[in-house]
Parts: sequence; structure tokens; C-alpha cells
Amino acid sequence: MEAVRIGSEEHARLFCRTFVETHRPFRAQDIVWPQLDEEQLARLKGLPVWDEAARTEAATAVKVQTLGNEETDPVLKEAIALQGYEEGRHAEIIALLTKTYGIPTAPFGSPEKPKNPTWTFLRTGYGECLDSFFAFGLFDIGRRSEFFHQDLIALFDQIMQEEARHILFIVNWAAYLRARSPLPLRPVFDARRAWNIAAQAFDRVKGALQMAGGNGGEEKDGSKEKAKGTQDGFTLKSHAVFGDFTLRSFLELCVAENERRLSPYDPRLLRPALVPGVVKLLLKFLPRNGRRRAAAS
Ligand SMILES: [Fe+2]
Ligand SMILES: [Fe+2]
Repeated sequence: MEAVRIGSEEHARLFCRTFVETHRPFRAQDIVWPQLDEEQLARLKGLPVWDEAARTEAATAVKVQTLGNEETDPVLKEAIALQGYEEGRHAEIIALLTKTYGIPTAPFGSPEKPKNPTWTFLRTGYGECLDSFFAFGLFDIGRRSEFFHQDLIALFDQIMQEEARHILFIVNWAAYLRARSPLPLRPVFDARRAWNIAAQAFDRVKGALQMAGGNGGEEKDGSKEKAKGTQDGFTLKSHAVFGDFTLRSFLELCVAENERRLSPYDPRLLRPALVPGVVKLLLKFLPRNGRRRAAAS
């Protein structure tokens, strides 16, 4: 298999075609929601993610759809518009799920259209690279625990895989844009991209600190946990159900899941390198004496 030159037409066709051909068509309203018993329902309601997920997916859909509408290259347009459609479907799925199972979510206004869709997409995309890396690991812990109904696990496995395709697209699209910008402007592109990535990382650190501080989080085995509020039931039982993880075993799982999720796609495409690279470096320095290792499934 011959390598493709990053920034070439062939590269654009490859990452767009990969994205379009791996799209799975289905409608959110056709999902058959499984009947949950009381315990399963309480577990689902106890997950501290619904407000954030509902708001973020709706906002991301508008951001990506705006770029899809404005893109003039037909090859890029088709893939970006499809990604916007998938984000809209994620938002619909979250809305249907919370409605079906009576999970209250805070109302939010309609998301604003971005003023600079290209850089907004880039910034959001790198945020997805950060979030997905850890989400893949967390999801796998949930999958192994069989803590949730298997139909819901299967549905969210599909959404995780869509996010893997999104981050694969974004790193290739960003590299394509960079390669096509005039040589003297590349340092400006790099600086702006680095600034956007740093802003996204800072957002996550700030959010984690707020969660830990505002909710009386305690640190155990390197993980911050919520210990108050509506998530009591979730956190108190989570050790028993999910098992204990050291920070090392959790990060190793994230690295492995990240590689597994991105492995089905054309090897000539770029993979997200920053977050896995930093985490792999960190793993070199973390102690190996984890008493409680993540057991392989
Ligand atoms: Fe999404
Ligand atoms: Fe996404």
C-alpha cells in the first residue's frame, strides 16, 4: 500500500471516503429502547453525564453542520455534513433516552452558530480527541461490568465508534489544512492550533477541579470521585461493581482502547498522536506496583 502525501487531493479523498463509507445509517426515532428494571434505571439515572452530554452534543451538531453548509469543496463538504448529521443524531439519541427513562436534564437555549466555523470545528475536534481518549477507557470498564442493559451498551458502543471516526477525520483534516496553507503561514497555523488545544485541555482540567472541589471529591488510587449529591448511589456502589483501578491500569486501558477503536481504518491515515503520546510518556514514569490491576476481559 503506497503512502499518501498529507495535504494532497488523494489524502482528502481517502479521509473523506473512509468517513463516508463507514457511516452507519439509522434513525434515532427507530431505536427500540429496552425495558429497564428498577435497579438498571437507577444506575442509568445515577450517571453524572446527562446534562453535559445533552448540551455538548447539541452544540457540536450546530458547529459541525455550519461548517458543512459553508464548505465549498464537494468532497470535504459531504464528509463534514455527514459528521454534522451524526452529531445531530447523538443529540437526538440523548434527548430520546433521557425522555424515555425520565431522566431530568437542565434546559438549554439553542446553540449559537459559530462565527468562524473552520476554527470552531478544529477546536471542537481537538476537544473530542481529548474526551474520546478517556471515554473509550471508561466505556470499556462499563461494558465489562455489565452494569447497564446490553442493548444500551451496544447503542453506546456504536456512538463511541462514531466518535473514533470523528477524531480520525479531524486530525487528517487539520493536517490537510496545514499542509495546504502557504509555507510562511504554517507557524501561525501551528501556534493557533496549539493555542486551541491548550484551551481545550485547560477547560477539562478546570472542569475536573470544579467537580472535585465543588462536590467534595476525594482522591483514591489517583482518581477523583464525586462523593455527594445525586451521584451518591453511583459512586458508592461503583467500586464494588467496576472494581478498583490504579491510575496506571486505567491509562493503559485508554491507550489500548484508543488503538483498538482506530485500528479498522486505512493505515495510511494519520491517527491522533498528542493525547496518546503524552499518556504513554506519563506511563513511563508511573509506578508499576498497582495492587489492583484492570483485569483483561
Ligand atoms: Fe457526538
Ligand atoms: Fe463527535
